[in-house]
Amino acid sequence: MRRYHIAVIPGDGIGKEIVPEGLKVLRAVALLEKLDLEFEMFPWGAEYFAQAGKFMPRDGLGRLGGFDAICFGAIGHPDVDDSLSAGSLMFRIRKAFQQYVNLRPIRLLPGVHGPLRGKGPGDIDFVIVRENVEGEFAQVGGIVNPDQPDGLAIQTGVVSRRGVERGAHYAFNLARTRRGKMTNVTKSNALSYGLVYWDRVIEEVHQSYLDVEYEKMYVDAAAMSFVLRPERFDVILTTNMFGDILSDLGGALMGSLGLCPSGNINPEHQFPSMFEPIHGSAPDIAGRGIANPLGTIWSGALMLEHLGERAAAQRILESIMTVLQNEDGPRPVDLGGDATTAEIGDAVIQRLS
Ligand code: NAI
Ligand code: MG
Repeated sequence: MRRYHIAVIPGDGIGKEIVPEGLKVLRAVALLEKLDLEFEMFPWGAEYFAQAGKFMPRDGLGRLGGFDAICFGAIGHPDVDDSLSAGSLMFRIRKAFQQYVNLRPIRLLPGVHGPLRGKGPGDIDFVIVRENVEGEFAQVGGIVNPDQPDGLAIQTGVVSRRGVERGAHYAFNLARTRRGKMTNVTKSNALSYGLVYWDRVIEEVHQSYLDVEYEKMYVDAAAMSFVLRPERFDVILTTNMFGDILSDLGGALMGSLGLCPSGNINPEHQFPSMFEPIHGSAPDIAGRGIANPLGTIWSGALMLEHLGERAAAQRILESIMTVLQNEDGPRPVDLGGDATTAEIGDAVIQRLS
């Protein structure tokens, strides 16, 4: 029996409601596929910070390092300074474990009515590869004289050859397994050092993947194309912040943010990768048991795929699609239904076999 140790960080708000559904489905699929999944829970995040004064214990990264993968919910709480959350936990995990690819599949699933008129499942099916440790979110900068009239802040983006090369190799390779097209979403007309260099390194890497169709598109035009011509995208490679923004737009194209999965991937498998829905802790609906757990459940499938468990991953995804196509079955609230978080998790489990 193949055995995997999974660290689980539910986090805050709806993170604590959706992650149990994700684990429930993983346990069920493990039985069917004869996998041994062992979970260990870590109660870290913004609520933990309110008690302990930190988002995770000092040896937190060390404790996570030995796991095969990490399941993550979301962090952020209205009573805790939001500028601390990401930098104190998520960015640290992403950096320490060289999870330099943030993988975000954007797919309109059958049974979901997306907001774009005339576009069906075949038209919206692409993957965003977001550079995940550098760029605008590298946390390099400072604030000088904040309380003075001459107060100023500087925040710098980081674009390194190594950082761009490894993301580009990943994206071109991924395109080879799909429809063979890679779009570099950039803004080198305005960011004339960082993104000019970004483009140049990607174009160098492309020389080793001439069988993959390559195109370059500015981020503003890309935002427009997401809405008007989503079918032109297959694999998108973009920077940390552009990827963050565009993937929420992508989530909207899918019909709800609650459906969207993601993986923070260390492609070399040298460190654990981390899987999470793309949404946050949604304090506006937390505690009511109505959050859509499907993005988290799908993230579990991405985890299994990363661990080499294709069949188990496929089983989960097919079950999600069956649930969404069943017009008489339970439907999550964000998709117009009235099912609870747990009812959706149960429905996915029922359809697994
Ligand atoms: P959010 O993603 O939490 O919520 C945006 C909207 O989508 C809300 O109306 C929410 O109710 C809805 N929504 C999100 N997930 C849903 C689900 N599974 N089912 C149904 N509806 C869902 O983003 P927001 O409001 O900007 O941020 C809230 C908190 O989450 C903040 O503290 C923020 O910093 C944090 N956050 C954390 C992230 C993470 O842990 N990776 C990512 C994004 C935000
Ligand atoms: Mg985001």
